[in-house]
Amino acid sequence: ARWPHPLCLSPLRLTRLPPLALSSLTGREVLTPFPGLGTAAAPAQGGAHLKQCDLLKLSRRQKQLCRREPGLAETLRDAAHLGLLECQFQFRHERWNCSLEGRTGLLKRGFKETAFLYAVSSAALTHTLARACSAGRMERCTCDDSPGLESRQAWQWGVCGDNLKYSTKFLSNFLGSKRGNKDLRARADAHNTHVGIKAVKSGLRTTCKCHGVSGSCAVRTCWKQLSPFRETGQVLKLRYDSAVKVSSATNEALGRLELWAPSRQGSPTKGLAPRSGDLVYMEDSPSFCRPSKYSPGTAGRVCSREASCSSLCCGRGYDTQSRLVAFSCHCQVQWCCYVECQQCVQEELVYTCKH
Ligand SMILES: *[C@@H]1O[C@H](CO)[C@@H](O)[C@H](O)[C@H]1NC(C)=O
Repeated sequence: ARWPHPLCLSPLRLTRLPPLALSSLTGREVLTPFPGLGTAAAPAQGGAHLKQCDLLKLSRRQKQLCRREPGLAETLRDAAHLGLLECQFQFRHERWNCSLEGRTGLLKRGFKETAFLYAVSSAALTHTLARACSAGRMERCTCDDSPGLESRQAWQWGVCGDNLKYSTKFLSNFLGSKRGNKDLRARADAHNTHVGIKAVKSGLRTTCKCHGVSGSCAVRTCWKQLSPFRETGQVLKLRYDSAVKVSSATNEALGRLELWAPSRQGSPTKGLAPRSGDLVYMEDSPSFCRPSKYSPGTAGRVCSREASCSSLCCGRGYDTQSRLVAFSCHCQVQWCCYVECQQCVQEELVYTCKH
């Protein structure tokens, strides 16, 4: 008889949600850059599913969908948290560092930052929902069952693919078409939302594993797996850096408003529809230097003297403080088998932007 090497069973662990999204959730964090989800009050731990849906700020139709789908409320909450953490990570060196507490005015504008928020939020939701399906945390969806994959076998081995198909289908229904997609901002929001979903889709990989005596690959199991959300965040940050400013134009043939990007240099045409991967924005961003309804400003931000202080501190200069940091030093390998180190202390300079 042939038995899989015990290691063959390990991919099960890979399909879980990254610990980032689950650990440190107190339930009281300010939710949600996710447009339309709003701020949630503290959800009852282990409380009734319906109650959890009521705690989220959802439209009537979304609330209905939430109530029909056990597991969804928690998934929405995890997704909002994941999106926010990723936004803060990607913008940790920027003047706007994605601190949204009490400053959600940004969501109603048409800045590049707004575009990023829409994209990262929908990406987080797509990602979290697909993972929740494969992790068995949803009642109405399970593993990816794309044809061509040996899914029955995959089940035997306990390898369960991330269900992106379900997740994107659900999401487009869940988000619906806001304000009938009539005005420019609604169209831009919808476009940026789609950029986020697409970024997750393009990170989907098919992973295979061989089973059989000494790597003979007599049986192959394949499944679909999403890339780590950090990679999606990086992709979206690059899109933010190269975001395209758009205006509107009425499409005579279709009789509706379209997004219109100015022509790229050297192009003979007057303007183009933005590409489906481009983030789009309509308004130039404020400087984010001083506290405003969009950001707390940059006073007190830690910066790097070589790299970021001059831009981050907006020319106001920076304060220098020294502090002592402990680190391991003079490490020696002891036979057998551990490393012994001493504690050393070093002075380190910390730069923070002036007020
Ligand atoms: C963003 O910057 C503000 C203002 O300096 C600071 O108070 C806040 O902790 C920062 N937020 C994050 C997530 O780093």
